[in-house]
Amino acid sequence: MVEFALPKNSVIAEGKTWPRPEGATNLRELRIYRWNPDDGANPRIDTYFVDMDNCGPMVLDAIIFIKNTIDPTLTFRRSCREGICGSCSMNIDGTNTLACTKGMDEIEGVIKIYPLPHMAVVKDLVPDLTIFYEQHAAIEPWLQAGAAPEKERLQTPQQRAKLDGLYECILCACCSTSCPSYWWNADRYLGPAALLQAYRWVQDSRDEAAPARIDYVDDVFRLYRCHTIMNCTKACPKHLEPAKAIAELKNLAIARMEG
Ligand code: SF4
Ligand code: SF4
Ligand code: FES
Repeated sequence: MVEFALPKNSVIAEGKTWPRPEGATNLRELRIYRWNPDDGANPRIDTYFVDMDNCGPMVLDAIIFIKNTIDPTLTFRRSCREGICGSCSMNIDGTNTLACTKGMDEIEGVIKIYPLPHMAVVKDLVPDLTIFYEQHAAIEPWLQAGAAPEKERLQTPQQRAKLDGLYECILCACCSTSCPSYWWNADRYLGPAALLQAYRWVQDSRDEAAPARIDYVDDVFRLYRCHTIMNCTKACPKHLEPAKAIAELKNLAIARMEG
């Protein structure tokens, strides 16, 4: 009989249940993924109780409460706590989202928290985003145009409006890490976040590199691994539509061939 070995660190053990905050009567229970690359142990799920009378309403408030008062080793990223920096993305209650904008009152029962799926984990809730950032750099996310004019580069209100729904991306990676095509081909498929940014620059009336940008993405893996599954659009905490941007890029690539 063939025996398969599970990949390293794929077994998640039941972890520690941490003591309840003393005297607290209004508690929420959180179960959080823990993995420390330095201790050689498998990942585990630790259980914590947060005193809601001494904690803000968001999931990030609870995680900060735990780090400050229960377990200082809990590791996660955060910065703005206002849905602007994109650092606190994680999988909460089965959905990729931002811990700072996810209210605990939106979740019934135990709050389960994991790192963004299908990414290598650096520690606890911190995923390795190296490839994600390389993909963003690969689409050259900056204005490419001739010599600067004496004054600013002007846009009409209509030209500027074309960037709405695109420029707001905070690179949180919720979309790409919810995309099955990205899970299996992250090394070759650019993923919805990078493609949304590619489209953002193609749409910018001031940019002169649109043909080269479309050339770069027009590839069986980089662009066409998107199979319109739409998980990306569902996951985006900024309510952007990466799937639509990808469809528009495909249209532009095809129109170029027909033209
Ligand atoms: S629409 Fe494309 S990018 Fe979005 S989840 Fe589906 S396959 Fe991935
Ligand atoms: S498109 Fe949305 S989900 Fe994707 S990286 Fe940007 S803000 Fe995050
Ligand atoms: S802490 Fe900045 S987006 Fe959540």
